[in-house]
Amino acid sequence: MAILVTGGAGYIGSHTCVELLNAGYEVVVLDNLCNASEKSLDRVRQITGKELTFYKGDILDREILNKLFAENKIESCIHFAGLKAVGESVQKPWEYYNNNISGTLTLVDVMRSNGCKNIIFSSSATVYGNPAQIPITEECPKGECTNPYGWTKSMLEQVLMDIQKADPQWNVILLRYFNPIGAHKSGTMGENPNGIPNNLMPYITQVAVGKLKELGVFGDDYDTPDGTGVRDYIHVVDLAVGHVKALKKIEENAGLCIYNLGTGHGYSVLDIVKNFEKANDVKIPYVIKPRRAGDIATCYANADKAEKELGWKAENGILQMCEDSWRWQKNNPNGYDS
Ligand code: NAD
Ligand code: WQD
Repeated sequence: MAILVTGGAGYIGSHTCVELLNAGYEVVVLDNLCNASEKSLDRVRQITGKELTFYKGDILDREILNKLFAENKIESCIHFAGLKAVGESVQKPWEYYNNNISGTLTLVDVMRSNGCKNIIFSSSATVYGNPAQIPITEECPKGECTNPYGWTKSMLEQVLMDIQKADPQWNVILLRYFNPIGAHKSGTMGENPNGIPNNLMPYITQVAVGKLKELGVFGDDYDTPDGTGVRDYIHVVDLAVGHVKALKKIEENAGLCIYNLGTGHGYSVLDIVKNFEKANDVKIPYVIKPRRAGDIATCYANADKAEKELGWKAENGILQMCEDSWRWQKNNPNGYDS
């Protein structure tokens, strides 16, 4: 039996493939490579010394999905495929709703018609909007999203919950990621953003490698200890391991489960700059800029539920995350193109 990993060539997907193969699972990846390089899968093979099956194709394409199910015995799906750029989603809402929502509806329909009713879905802390409480527990109500990307996650959670409610044979695990950073320790796999990065850590690593001049810090007047935004940064390998633990939960017929995957620690933008400088002995010049629209002051998880029910806990600290992000960027200044 195999695990279908949609979006498996992407940042979190490729790291998860490594952990799945290391845990002894057979892996089938479906990715249209709209935001990834197939080279990431070669690195997965190199790191693990194991094979995986790759289909280049779209989750909106029923034909390839049916072919994939006919050719493989798929037990469960880990569904990463989706568009994820917050700013772009404001410019291209139709593309985001179509890709993420219609894509997931198509995938789930083909899954059930092939008798596969186990799905782990990549959700996000963004569904909490401006959170009602900090640290954020899973009981915290969902909030208003500030962009179409966030709404696709919030809506898809509802879609998957309703499907599970109507047919309890489904096992649905919603994983709400906080801020994934870091890279595989080998330095051969990591985040590979197109163009100028939107997210903090890839921006910092591109400043460190000399591709960008300085970091713009978006606001220093938030109600936080140093005035800059506070987030829960989690190592991508810890996140990947969380998916393997979630698969074990599915194997116990979990029904519907929701977990925060975070560390429970909040770091400000300036904390990240300082830790990156300390871990790697490089200087990150920065300037304070105005707040970025849609940003909130503080967001970090209470991840106790995942520890209690999945036996999962993030292991890597912030210095390790900074060190691993830098190793990847330094060794691959142009990502998978170098
Ligand atoms: P990513 O862009 O690196 O990976 C997504 C992958 O999906 C890419 O390889 C892309 O080519 C593929 N894809 C997109 N649309 C597709 C389609 N229609 N058919 C087939 N493949 C398609 O992003 P990531 O950071 O690895 O994120 C993985 C998932 O986790 C996404 O759903 C994302 O929204 C979610 N998530 C990411 C973060 C984050 O900060 N990185 C946080 C919370 C949730
Ligand atoms: C982190 C902090 C910025 C860049 C986003 C999505 C969220 C989730 C994770 C998918 C904030 C500050 C950033 C820069 C800065 N993705 N910053 N200068 O906004 O917490 O979350 O990625 O689900 O949905 O919104 O992450 O890395 O963009 O920002 O000062 O150049 O760094 O203001 O305080 P964010 P981020």
